[in-house]
Amino acid sequence: SAAIKVGVIGLGTVGQGVVRLLKNNADEIARRVGRPLVVTHASVRDAGKARDCDLSGITTLADAMQLAREADVDLLVETVGGISPARELILAALARGKSVVTANKALIAEDGNRVFAAARASGASVAFEAAVAGGIPVIKAVREGLAGNRVERLAGIINGTCNYILTQMQENGTAFDDALRDAQRLGYAEADPTFDIEGMDSAHKLAILASIAFGTPLDYGSVAVEGITRVTPQDIQIAQVFGYRIKLLGIAKRSGKGSEQGIELRVHPTLVPDNTLLAKVDGVLNSVVVRGDAVGEVGFYGRGAGGDATASAVVADLIDLARGLGADARHAVPALAFQPDAVRALPI
Ligand code: NAP
Ligand code: HSE
Repeated sequence: SAAIKVGVIGLGTVGQGVVRLLKNNADEIARRVGRPLVVTHASVRDAGKARDCDLSGITTLADAMQLAREADVDLLVETVGGISPARELILAALARGKSVVTANKALIAEDGNRVFAAARASGASVAFEAAVAGGIPVIKAVREGLAGNRVERLAGIINGTCNYILTQMQENGTAFDDALRDAQRLGYAEADPTFDIEGMDSAHKLAILASIAFGTPLDYGSVAVEGITRVTPQDIQIAQVFGYRIKLLGIAKRSGKGSEQGIELRVHPTLVPDNTLLAKVDGVLNSVVVRGDAVGEVGFYGRGAGGDATASAVVADLIDLARGLGADARHAVPALAFQPDAVRALPI
């Protein structure tokens, strides 16, 4: 039967991974969806740049907005990153009733409500599994798998670049700048790696995940953030002597009482006892541990960054939307999930 046509805006680390994965697993995916899922259109900034994916059969448009507004596609993938023009491209696609899959945590965390409102108005969907913890399907797991729980707390290593740098510093004595350069070369870092090393990327992800886990509005501005740029080799060595690892954690937990009740959101380097699960999560791996009142503690673990791992999450969202599963659920959280009287994130 007729193929579902996909447009991809942005063929960098993640976008190329999406094109590769849809081609490599085309038969498997077609069986799962019931129809082939084919990239027919793409757009990039520099059309002259070599790409690490097969672009045969893909029409490349110089103007991304033309793709979002006019191209004959059923679903759009936004893997450009940043707030603008990514937001305008997504809003243009939604206005045409086209559902969108995005890996863009900065946009969802900072302006997700506008995007979700546009999706609701048009009846289209926005899916964003790849926005948190790369290939780990933690958004689906928390939103759907833990939906019966009152979540008490969650904590995790949610930035692959920082975890890679800290691991290289600890295991190999690599200098911070060299480890960061490696993380960039491997495709883990943001286009502006300040977002990684100063903790904003973790804060974006924490705001999204906490909103889903606790049913609170997106509140990126309330996250207390400290990155890893002040962690020295001496800090790492001394921590090791006392039986700890230094990890950049994102932490969200219920806090306060009565009218002061809220969710505390913070990102900072943390001393983690080296006999714990999180201490053993090394390199680009991420891990999220969630405590629910019924289930107790649940842990998720896997590759938190990189083209193929992140493409795994983007393609899973495409498959959901292609199967028609997305319409109700994809953009319903966090924008619609919170109660009007829900506790808000607390500045700390
Ligand atoms: P990237 O390698 O920098 O790729 C960005 C792509 O967007 C490039 O192909 C670039 O074109 C294209 N682009 C930029 N401005 C454009 C415009 N105005 N019109 C059309 N194309 C444009 O970034 P990435 O690492 O793939 O990240 C993409 C998104 O995924 C970001 O939101 C990021 O936070 C998120 N993400 C990344 C990872 C990861 O591991 N890298 C994991 C999870 C989520 P040129 O190539 O021609 O410059
Ligand atoms: N720059 C991000 C990281 C990409 O290193 O975790 C995955 O979101």
